Amino acid sequence: MTAQSEESAQSQKSANDSILIAPSILAADIGALAAEVKAVEAAGADWIHVDVMDGHFVPNITIGPFVTEAVRRATTLPVDVHLMIEQPERYVGDFVKAGADRVGVHVETCPNLHRSVAQIREAGARACVVVNPATPATALEYVIGDVDQVLIMTVNPGFGGQKYIASMKEKIATVRRWIDAQDREIDLQVDGGITPGTIGHARAAGANCFVAGTAVFARDDYAEAIRELRERAAQAQETLS
Ligand code: DX5
Ligand code: ZN
Repeated sequence: MTAQSEESAQSQKSANDSILIAPSILAADIGALAAEVKAVEAAGADWIHVDVMDGHFVPNITIGPFVTEAVRRATTLPVDVHLMIEQPERYVGDFVKAGADRVGVHVETCPNLHRSVAQIREAGARACVVVNPATPATALEYVIGDVDQVLIMTVNPGFGGQKYIASMKEKIATVRRWIDAQDREIDLQVDGGITPGTIGHARAAGANCFVAGTAVFARDDYAEAIRELRERAAQAQETLS
């Protein structure tokens, strides 16, 4: 193995080995947003997940660049923006200016997906592509070499606190195989219904990054909640190796 390929194999391994927990502020007390963000950062969160909904693509309306800016000011952690909006290309620039480090767009909203991915990267953020539960993995096949992150929804987007859809396992495993065949680091994220009871399932299938809303913010002790999620994911990893 050349030094270069050894290095890329190591970075691939580290992407798969590092378990990242991304609390979603959708479940936070929005009236105390900065304090909530600081609290999960102190509790050991890896990223802050920001759910943006437009009332069209999903049946709920949440927040925009203005609130994302407040999140940015409250933390030094990567701000991971999940755009559940139609025509996301109209707003990518605004969210990056507001401080997003990562921007995710749904394949269901992007007829020219490569162009949307390029737009996110040119704006200076890492690009994530997101698939709804009913969208097959093949929707990602031709774009996977161009992205920094893939998000496989484990609920239908729109609301927190929904039930994890276990049949996503095969899709997660398929995308993990495609990611491992790439020569670069790509995070594989899951979002929806992630709890201490489900995180191991997604981890065993191949996910390395876990969005958790209610499983963190509905608990009294955020540090304990994040530690428990991390431990359950690590246990599933052990059974894998
Ligand atoms: C769902 C959002 C999720 C949501 C997760 O539409 O994309 O990020 O906040 O919430 P939980 O973890 O409660 O399922
Ligand atoms: Zn989300």
